Amino acid sequence: MIDFNDPAFVADPYQALAALRLHGKPVWHEEMQMFLAPCHSDANDVFRNKSLGRIFKDKTPEFEWETFNWLHSDSILDSEPPKHTRLRSLVAKAFNRNKIEGMRPAIERITQELLDAIDEKVKSGLTFDLIADYAEPLPVKIIADLLGFPESEEHLLRPWSQSIVKMYEVNPSAQYQMEAKKAASEFAQYVRDLAEQRKINPGQDLISDLALVEENGEKLNSHELVATCVLLLNAGHEASVNAFGNGMVAALQRPDQNALLRNNSRAVTDTALEEFMRFDAPLHLFERTASVDTTLGGVKIEQGQKIAALIGSANRDEKVFENPDEMDLTRDPNPHIGFGAGIHFCLGAPLARLEMGVSLPALWEKYPDMRLAGEPVRRPTFVLRGYESVAISA
Ligand code: HEM
Repeated sequence: MIDFNDPAFVADPYQALAALRLHGKPVWHEEMQMFLAPCHSDANDVFRNKSLGRIFKDKTPEFEWETFNWLHSDSILDSEPPKHTRLRSLVAKAFNRNKIEGMRPAIERITQELLDAIDEKVKSGLTFDLIADYAEPLPVKIIADLLGFPESEEHLLRPWSQSIVKMYEVNPSAQYQMEAKKAASEFAQYVRDLAEQRKINPGQDLISDLALVEENGEKLNSHELVATCVLLLNAGHEASVNAFGNGMVAALQRPDQNALLRNNSRAVTDTALEEFMRFDAPLHLFERTASVDTTLGGVKIEQGQKIAALIGSANRDEKVFENPDEMDLTRDPNPHIGFGAGIHFCLGAPLARLEMGVSLPALWEKYPDMRLAGEPVRRPTFVLRGYESVAISA
């Protein structure tokens, strides 16, 4: 059975995932004590089946994990109806298509500023880092701006977030666990203080809006407020960085796809983004727990047992996608499940699409002849799949 921490698997998981799909149904993973759903239709059902829920199990000992635990159990992502419906409805308005479209000028301005900074390096004959100089700062700045997280403190976000999300890997190390506890406490305290300040001095931002909802005793308690803000700040950038980085590296490695972007980036942007999401998924595994005995893909999942949707595998399912192992930036239709499905469908999908939709053609128009300068460096993680750094010469 797959060893999710094997460096060879992390370097290229797709052959092993294809072999898993040959079972044609969910497969039990003894070490993880859960079923894995590698095929598209089963993974899709995992997200949609109402008998399967996101049920967060507190980590123990609880006194050590206290903040980490409630940051999850009181967040939108880790709760189920009716709590999920209440929390999601409080923030959904901020993420609807019209509101997000209103952010286009800010996204275009930040993209331009990043390109100007990159150009300083290029003009001096240096390479630039696709991740640190471009893919990462755009979503971090935008989500920070939307929430009202101070610009001068943005550097704190990525390390806190990275430390927390490493807990979503399979069997996180003792070191990862220690860092996650510390980051959860610091991040929660910071957001709590920020929310207190906003109650006194509200701004035009989501933390102020939510802080006032809490203050008025409506629908949101203090843990839910902090947990929601922390989730949005983390989810609002982690996957976006990797979707862009993974897609760009794959495209730069393939001369035909490289040529498409070089000559036609604006014309193919919409389909290219979806193919970025499908081809080398930034998020690979999401779990659910059965609230009652359930049958999925012909397999019985007993109450309390877990099953995981393998998104990256589903997105390569040969039963759904023609030539699934080939990147085709003009692929249409492209029914990937990179943003999930069902009630937890990604709240930030319109924002992620807009950010990539602006930044992708802008980069190609500026540097049509860009190429990889050396081997991109991968992060050693499977669930959140991405690159540490990607040197580019232009
Ligand atoms: C390319 C980038 C992104 C990808 C691939 C992605 C993927 C996903 C997936 C797969 C889920 C569902 C998880 C599950 O069902 O267990 C999800 C949920 C969520 N995403 Fe995203 N996401 C991205 C960007 C964003 C952005 C920019 C935001 C902005 C705030 C965001 C906020 C959320 C939230 C709040 C949820 C939880 C929704 C709920 O539980 O109802 N995501 N995302």
